[in-house]
Amino acid sequence: MQVTGAPTRTVESLRGASSFAGNLSIAFRVATALGAVMTKLQAQVRALQPSDLAVYCDHLLRLDRNSRHNRFGWAMDDDGIRAHCLRIAAQSVTVIAAEIDATLRAGLELWTDPRATHAEIVFAVEDGWRNYGLASRLIAHAIDEARKRNLEWLQIEADETSPIVLHLIEKFGGIRSSSEDGLNGTIMLTLTMPRQSTESVGVPC
Ligand SMILES: CC(C)(COP(=O)(O)OP(=O)(O)OC[C@H]1O[C@@H](n2cnc3c(N)ncnc32)[C@H](O)[C@@H]1OP(=O)(O)O)[C@@H](O)C(=O)NCCC(=O)NCCS
Repeated sequence: MQVTGAPTRTVESLRGASSFAGNLSIAFRVATALGAVMTKLQAQVRALQPSDLAVYCDHLLRLDRNSRHNRFGWAMDDDGIRAHCLRIAAQSVTVIAAEIDATLRAGLELWTDPRATHAEIVFAVEDGWRNYGLASRLIAHAIDEARKRNLEWLQIEADETSPIVLHLIEKFGGIRSSSEDGLNGTIMLTLTMPRQSTESVGVPC
């Protein structure tokens, strides 16, 4: 399996799709003259089926230029995104996604190394839906899925200018390292790393 969104995002195969499903109650802040008022919406987080690929592709196509750059490693155009989605289908990549009001607003791809020792995760949340814990939720599901597959570690590539991604790496116990490709975050799934289950991830409210 080959992720072509970035040169170093090269992981080779997909194992079977997982069947995570979960509900995430997210609080959205609505500014009013009286201050912040919290209203709650439901986000469903689940592993997508092949038949969901079109809506996942629609989500990627909604990402703006900067988000695409951060997500893929360069400003991927629409044709590139469509080609990327075809590769996901062809290679059965696991995609974990968050839907709000039946619209997919965030997604994470888990690209497993052919030796099944590790996987790289890449993810994005649509502008307007950020800072509500969606990425954290997706990463937590990816960690659970990776543990089910007995993977040893997960890798996240980080843009050095993205303090949020760096924060997420640290939040999940990741170890940051530098290479000629930039910053990497490695989340060890075995040995001494604390277990970060889906349930233990805090959701802003
Ligand atoms: C990175 C991205 C996925 C984060 O999604 P998100 O749903 O907003 O993330 P979350 O809400 O789960 O977590 C954001 C965290 O960053 C923190 N944060 C926000 N702004 C921050 C900043 N300027 N500096 C440091 N941390 C910051 C938040 O407090 C939160 O931490 P917490 O959960 O400990 O409170 C989203 O910004 C995005 O799609 N970016 C473009 C694509 C991308 O960069 N993908 C990652 C590389 S594959």
